[in-house]
Amino acid sequence: MSVSRYLLVRDYRNVKSDALAILLFKGESPKRLYADVDEGLRGLLSRVVELGDFKGDINEVLTLYNTDLPYPRIIMVGGGDVKEASYETLRVFGGHAVSRARSLGISKVSIALRVLGDPAKSLRAIAEGAILANYTFSKYKKDVKLVKEIEIVGKEEVPNWESIVNEVNIVGEAYKLSRDLANSPPEDVNPDTFENYVRDVLKDLPVNIKVLSKEEIVKEGLNGILAVGKGSVRGPKLLIMEYRGGSGPWYAVVGKGVCFDAGGLNLKRDKWIAEMKFDKSGAASVVGIIYAAAKLKLPINLVGLVPLVENLPSGSSYKPGDIIKMYNGLTVEVVNTDAEGRLILADAIAYAIKNYKPEVVIDLATLTGAIVVALGNQAAGLFTNDESLAKELEKAAEESGERVWRLPLWKEYFEDIKSEVADIKNLGVVGAAGAQAGAAFLAKFAEEAKWAHLDIASTAWTQEEGPKKPYYPKGATGFGIRLVLTYLKSKVK
Ligand code: BES
Ligand code: ZN
Ligand code: ZN
Repeated sequence: MSVSRYLLVRDYRNVKSDALAILLFKGESPKRLYADVDEGLRGLLSRVVELGDFKGDINEVLTLYNTDLPYPRIIMVGGGDVKEASYETLRVFGGHAVSRARSLGISKVSIALRVLGDPAKSLRAIAEGAILANYTFSKYKKDVKLVKEIEIVGKEEVPNWESIVNEVNIVGEAYKLSRDLANSPPEDVNPDTFENYVRDVLKDLPVNIKVLSKEEIVKEGLNGILAVGKGSVRGPKLLIMEYRGGSGPWYAVVGKGVCFDAGGLNLKRDKWIAEMKFDKSGAASVVGIIYAAAKLKLPINLVGLVPLVENLPSGSSYKPGDIIKMYNGLTVEVVNTDAEGRLILADAIAYAIKNYKPEVVIDLATLTGAIVVALGNQAAGLFTNDESLAKELEKAAEESGERVWRLPLWKEYFEDIKSEVADIKNLGVVGAAGAQAGAAFLAKFAEEAKWAHLDIASTAWTQEEGPKKPYYPKGATGFGIRLVLTYLKSKVK
């Protein structure tokens, strides 16, 4: 299912496959780049373009058939305006190639390398798009259509293609395990089984796993995690994954692990509740990040912290009106039990800072519906207390294609979460700046540490409506894995 290789060819007529995928920008004639294919098709390729039946628009895909070439299909993929092209265009190209091959049910697809700028980066982008598109949640389905072999072919030397292909395949595995976790039904992956799953996927890697049970959570005073977990028969947990790959300071990644968010006593309505198995997406991305970092042997010390709970209504649930004394000593008035993510993350962030003294803490969380309203599915919200971290994460976002958009943490937003009966409350002004209220709450627990919060409620799974990327199949996306890995790699260079 992985990318098998990069194959240098002189003539595209020699490729042996079930399909060859090529990229054409708007107004581009196939005669220059794909003259050999066009000849093999007796001019059909250029004819289709001349007739205007293939315009090269972004997201345009057309399959041609032939009897003369050693592959019976050509998958033409449009790239849009070449002046607007980026590595992301190549990622989308790789995604369309595989996604069309999958729907045709074919087993091998060869994708023609198109170089934009740097050949190595171009190869990587196409391979990333291809591997990320070759996924479906298959645990409960028999007839899944996946491509068995993806090969990239091209006429340009790409030095070190082996290491690029190897790295992309590892990242592909990280997305698969992360998407599988987030897509799994809530009864399947709950605070107990999440741990087993993680132990299994990390078993051959140099990652030290620690789990704080409910009793230890009580003993440590992680009362935010404890409170949210109270309504479930399954106790809360704090899962800690340590990867020691370097000699410098720790970097910490924290992921929201609400295995199901019913809202607690502030029960959600059916439109939202149906999707809330995805509320463990941040946690799933953190597992993916740890997996990839360890398997790629990144020379860095990285700790992943994942508070795991189920937010359910029951006789033992925490209640609106409760006041919680958090791990760092702050008191929190619970106004709405559905704003649970910030409570468990706050404790996990404070725990990470106290016990690991990390250089940087990044949290990933499906924290607010407000971020979906603000950004649609086009970007995750970025909040941080550090200007250079903002720049570095924005750069990593640009490079990885996992977009972020920075939102402010002005002091006025901290006014919104002041409480009359406790230090702060878990809700801001209803209907106003909801994502900022969540972020401001977390900032109180990051205190002086360099910290960034990624509100991924907008990007963690594909919504029914709106434009879709071909490399994000339906359901969980795994968003954040490449973003954070790109950032971490920039820190060790
Ligand atoms: N898990 C939700 C956030 C969410 C909502 C993610 C919709 C994706 C789609 C979170 O725990 C939540 O319920 N947030 C509330 C906060 C509110 C009560 C302040 C929300 O956003 O409505
Ligand atoms: Zn909630
Ligand atoms: Zn939630």
